[in-house]
Amino acid sequence: MNLTTFSFPTRTRFGAGAVRELPEALAQLGVRRPLVVTDAGVARTEAFQILTQVLGEAGRDRDWFVFSEVHPNPIEDDVRRPAALFREKGCDGVIAIGGGSPLDAGKAARLLAKRLEFPLAKFYEQPADWTGLAPFIAIPTTAGTGSEVGRSSVITLDSTQRKAVLFHAELLAKLVILDPELTTGLPPKLTAATGADALTHCIESYTCPAFHPMCDGIALEGVRLVVEALPRAFRDGHDLEARGKMLVAAAMGAVAFQKDLGAVHSLAHPLSTLCGMHHGLANALCLVAVMKFNARQKPGLYRRVGIACGLDVIKGSNGDADGQTIEFIAQFLAGLGLNTKLREHGVKQEQMEALVTQAWEDPCHRTNAVPVTAEDLRALYLECW
Ligand SMILES: [Fe+2]
Repeated sequence: MNLTTFSFPTRTRFGAGAVRELPEALAQLGVRRPLVVTDAGVARTEAFQILTQVLGEAGRDRDWFVFSEVHPNPIEDDVRRPAALFREKGCDGVIAIGGGSPLDAGKAARLLAKRLEFPLAKFYEQPADWTGLAPFIAIPTTAGTGSEVGRSSVITLDSTQRKAVLFHAELLAKLVILDPELTTGLPPKLTAATGADALTHCIESYTCPAFHPMCDGIALEGVRLVVEALPRAFRDGHDLEARGKMLVAAAMGAVAFQKDLGAVHSLAHPLSTLCGMHHGLANALCLVAVMKFNARQKPGLYRRVGIACGLDVIKGSNGDADGQTIEFIAQFLAGLGLNTKLREHGVKQEQMEALVTQAWEDPCHRTNAVPVTAEDLRALYLECW
């Protein structure tokens, strides 16, 4: 038996209005001059207005500061610039609000705030001093990536133009605030796409062959919550209960994928870097094809996913359980408008070689439920094209 490590340490405050407790939480963490990290889109939302009220409008640029220029796929500057602002203003904590990008940038900015000259490209070669990092508070405004409970930060490096995953336990937030009131403004299309990311995290982490029974349990409950809540949040953005369940499901998906992910994410990552596709949409468009591919080689793989979806597949053959589950997921995604083809989103056949090359280089497929080859990835792209 191999030795494995389990840890689920992040303190999370959940519920409508939870963000209003932020001042007390900051005081408890000893933060007096926070830097808020976000992106330009979030800075224009009602969620950001609520945060501004909570922190005190009059204190902006005096007691608390804002960096709101994080790119959709964060680059090194999105870490370096808030770090420089943090030092210039004498800040002592970071609050990141938004989707995965501001959360990832905010997490990593604390390392550079301590050592501005630290080369992010050398993250794994050069030992960093992780002691004494400023406290980090994560406030997601989407329910998808689950970056708020993750210990990694995905940054596109200047030198290679590829995404690097900075991974360290000290990147974890000291506090996560899951407040569904902050996600009500998310439009239906983004609600669906980000929710599909959470669903993919749950399904891929559950079926990944690593030994992690705690993650497995969390992943299956995450599937159940998405199936129940995502159609509701998609239809009615102000359904606070559904929004809350999706926030929890997204956090659960990310907790579960510390176990690892699979081929859907390897196919999805190049669709974002090469074709600019939204990450959740890219997952949604590839999920069913990968499930069919996996089930052919590992019959019965999706039986418990089907049970989590509420299907009557406890008995019956493996083939029937997989078939019903995959059909359910296909219909579920179709109900959210996520049943289109890659070509309908501008993906060109001539991009196929580059997509396959990058998907093959992506590490996620190495922990797929069944082994995949580069040819398999090509066939999967073609099936989704
Ligand atoms: Fe993802």
